[in-house]
Amino acid sequence: FQSRPSSNPDRTSVDEIVGRRRMRRNRKSDWARRMVRENTLTVDDLIWPLFVIAGSNVRQPVASMPGVERLSIDEIRRDAARAAELGIPAVAVFPYTDPALRDATGSEALNANNLVCQACRAIREETGDIGIMTDVALDPYTSHGHDGLMSGEEILNDETVDQLVTQALVQAEAGTDIIGPSDMMDGRIGAIREGLDNGGYRNVQIMSYTAKYASAFYGPFRDAVGTNATLIGDKRTYQMDPANTDEAIREAELDVAEGADMIMVKPGMPYLDIIRRLKDAFAMPTFAYQVSGEFAMIAAAGQNGWIDHDRAMLESLMAFKRAGADGILTYFAPMVAEKLKA
Ligand code: PBG
Repeated sequence: FQSRPSSNPDRTSVDEIVGRRRMRRNRKSDWARRMVRENTLTVDDLIWPLFVIAGSNVRQPVASMPGVERLSIDEIRRDAARAAELGIPAVAVFPYTDPALRDATGSEALNANNLVCQACRAIREETGDIGIMTDVALDPYTSHGHDGLMSGEEILNDETVDQLVTQALVQAEAGTDIIGPSDMMDGRIGAIREGLDNGGYRNVQIMSYTAKYASAFYGPFRDAVGTNATLIGDKRTYQMDPANTDEAIREAELDVAEGADMIMVKPGMPYLDIIRRLKDAFAMPTFAYQVSGEFAMIAAAGQNGWIDHDRAMLESLMAFKRAGADGILTYFAPMVAEKLKA
């Protein structure tokens, strides 16, 4: 850059202010920017959440998540195969349970032939080397939409944990690779680890929803799995208060001590500070969940032409890498994978 004399002789020149340090030199062209780039986003960073529903030949759009569909088992095979083809390392499966099968104790969660278990077997059969992650929590199966068993208004902790262990074993039997406890009950990671080890599933990993906040950003997901209709009250007695950060450290201490292989922060973009703190404090494989509401905001604004959809998508994901995340659960996964390939 040429240094020109200041147009105003009374003003200190920029040269005098910056000396020899001009930050824009390293930004002068694409190659220069690429050369100094600190973080990269690759297909290996992605986990693709999929919604499964009963039936066959079903691809049912989720209204609040443009481009996302509930898939029957035959269709989930196709998407899992697409994930494998794109090089996405893992998919995560979430069920839309028929309301007639939901009850107060979420008993369908323990059915070895429930949708999630069917999906695990189908995906395993369809694809070779792809990771399968399954959620452990009762909310898609309960008539009240809570993640645990209830007594009156109370969400019971220890009784719920017992059932979550069984749910995890049922999923392990169906072939899941990664158990993702998203329930936020105390002590569940240790109990599930013990259950898996005793059941002969020593190699099944646990990605703990370590810092899961009581968030408004889960709305579209609850549409997708049908719990907006069922949920009574809110989840604030078990999910974290959005005002807290030290508490996330204490949650992570417990999860790591109890045997979590990977930890996760959820939601993602509003909680980048938490990702950074946990990564720095624990040096664990640390994941972000870019949740349904985050996806919906970018998708909707993109559809309206209010933001550049693809740029906002990539920028939001790069933010997780910058914050220290090793990977991201994101509904954008296939779009990003296509884009990174191009
Ligand atoms: C269920 C669960 C939720 C999400 C993942 N697992 C919702 C909730 O806790 O109410 C949210 C994911 C998303 O919003 O994309 N325990």
